[in-house]
Amino acid sequence: MIKISPSILSADFARLGAEIRTVEQAGADYIHVDVMDGHFVPNITIGAPVVGALRQVTELPLDVHLMIENPDLYIPDFAKAGSDIITVHQEAVPHLHRTVQLIHSLGKKAGVSINPATPAGALEVIMAEVDLVLVMTVNPGFGGQSFIPATLNKITQLREMIDRTGRDIELEVDGGVKADNIGEIAAAGADVFVAGSAVFNAPDYTQAIQALRDNVK
Ligand code: DX5
Ligand code: ZN
Repeated sequence: MIKISPSILSADFARLGAEIRTVEQAGADYIHVDVMDGHFVPNITIGAPVVGALRQVTELPLDVHLMIENPDLYIPDFAKAGSDIITVHQEAVPHLHRTVQLIHSLGKKAGVSINPATPAGALEVIMAEVDLVLVMTVNPGFGGQSFIPATLNKITQLREMIDRTGRDIELEVDGGVKADNIGEIAAAGADVFVAGSAVFNAPDYTQAIQALRDNVK
């Protein structure tokens, strides 16, 4: 059973509450929230107050992707605002084990993400502690980019690493996921799919989400 996590980065920010309700009715499993600081990635988006506002309009798990430096400073705010999953970047955090412990101490699920050029092995040691692994399949910073095919092999490797732990760890992919490539990404072992432009740029969100599901065997 796969999950679809529409990224609000491609939503209409002037009508965010309505967009969330529409995508919830369209069959979304999670709501993916992209937080960017203009330092770790070359773009600036939103902060914890927006997560708090989203919390008022949906019961769906809020899947918060922190593309920021020094996330330890802000994780308590994101937890308090109502995040369910808090994901940090391996490349942004010097003491990853401590950061994962911080997220868990706040009662939230902890995710760790890696950029396209970071090898799967960077997560070998932390795997025993995490609830979710997020593989970036584009360079983070913007919606609407093309999937980088070289990341597929890494998804296969991470699936094997996760299976070896025997733990229930979700393997999420983020960037360039479309109806025409989700099949091979799922075959590589991913089970949660972020989709920004594929959902929010479509005329009908229900059809867009169904088209993603229909292409997974
Ligand atoms: C990119 C973000 C993604 C982005 C995905 O840095 O982390 O979540 O919104 O957008 P699409 O699905 O359009 O590639
Ligand atoms: Zn994201």
